[in-house]
Amino acid sequence: MKIQGLTLINGTGDGIIGPMSEGYKIAASILSADFTHLGEAIRQAEEAGADWIHIDVMDGHFVPNLTMGPVVVEACRRATKLPLDVHLMVERPDHLLPAFVEAGADSLSVHPEAGPQLHRTLQTIRGLGVRAGVVLNPGTPAIAADEVLDLVDLVLVMTVNPGYSGQQFIPSALEKARTIRSWIDERKLDVKIEVDGGITAQTAPLAAEAGAEVFVAASSIFDHPKGIKAGVAALRESLQR
Ligand code: DX5
Ligand code: ZN
Repeated sequence: MKIQGLTLINGTGDGIIGPMSEGYKIAASILSADFTHLGEAIRQAEEAGADWIHIDVMDGHFVPNLTMGPVVVEACRRATKLPLDVHLMVERPDHLLPAFVEAGADSLSVHPEAGPQLHRTLQTIRGLGVRAGVVLNPGTPAIAADEVLDLVDLVLVMTVNPGYSGQQFIPSALEKARTIRSWIDERKLDVKIEVDGGITAQTAPLAAEAGAEVFVAASSIFDHPKGIKAGVAALRESLQR
């Protein structure tokens, strides 16, 4: 399939062969979007050059906040062809996985503490035909990802404690990203490190230097004083320096 001279290999808009496949990805987290105009906010983020849309699913148990479920993922799916990166902050998420895939998720990431069988959960996600991610909280050591590195496409290193957008970046998480990056490189795995929380034009380059390739941002995009376009542009620019 050809779109604007580029070849799509998986039909979701990701995996485009060309310079973008080598570069950093910006994942716009809709948690800070205006939910009265969600489709419009997503369209603006896409036009501004966001690569993925990140959707934070919170259950009020694993994290104190309560947010969205498959219905919202399905609405996002209708608003964009960008990959939908779903971050599950949900206890025992296994029974919900098929519903998120049916709603249009392209990747599902889970926390090791959320259920008793991380390995099985990741196998289930891959078995559903989408990318699998493991998410490490600031208090969770790198070693929690070690045994499952060959079962994941993403390691999401939380740079805040999950639950809310607009929190302060925790710099000590970068050392963990660096450690995991070295394991990925040593084992020659095709796994991306994603960072999430407090990512701004100031912190994104620090995370890139620690080995991150995917940068999740909510408030620095959707609450940027000059608008969504300026928010994405500032992040992109910070990663090109
Ligand atoms: C936090 C979520 C993040 C959040 C990031 O629990 O996982 O994705 O939306 O928000 P900012 O970018 O504002 O820190
Ligand atoms: Zn998130």
